[in-house]
Amino acid sequence: MSHTAPAHTSDTPATQATQAMAWTPSLNTGDARMDETHQEFVDMINQILATPEEAQLPIYKAFLNHTVEHFAQEERWMLATGFSADNCHAEHHATILETMRVVEAHYLDTDKQIITRLAEALAEWFPGHAASMDAGLAAHLKSVGFDSVTETLADPSVIQNVTMSGCGSVSCSS
Ligand SMILES: [Fe+2]
Ligand SMILES: [Fe+2]
Repeated sequence: MSHTAPAHTSDTPATQATQAMAWTPSLNTGDARMDETHQEFVDMINQILATPEEAQLPIYKAFLNHTVEHFAQEERWMLATGFSADNCHAEHHATILETMRVVEAHYLDTDKQIITRLAEALAEWFPGHAASMDAGLAAHLKSVGFDSVTETLADPSVIQNVTMSGCGSVSCSS
């Protein structure tokens, strides 16, 4: 790489001082399909943070749709492997989605900085969620022989007596 980074010139909008969120090995959950979705999630946060605030809405809407799918995917896997529908991991997802929808409304109303603030907050929130609830789910999927690519259990009888209201291997106290 011989060329240098572009200089920050005065005609470049300097509205985005935020650092990009790096993908680090600590974000890996042990489930490749989940990790792929998570990499997309991180990429979209970075895309938002690299976009001037007045142009963020279309990216934000795509990010919200992606997050709906991301969370629905995990919740589908939970239901397929013995979690009750009202488990606390799903409740955490619902809280995040509710916040994301409120943020869209506030952005449309008057607050053009709120999407940036939320993206920063999600960048802070995500590593903890990935390392606890998502990694716990990934470990549970492995332990019951669930294939997240085909979304099938090697032996469906293994979860007949499993009813989980918690988050798998992690506590729900947070
Ligand atoms: Fe996740
Ligand atoms: Fe999750």
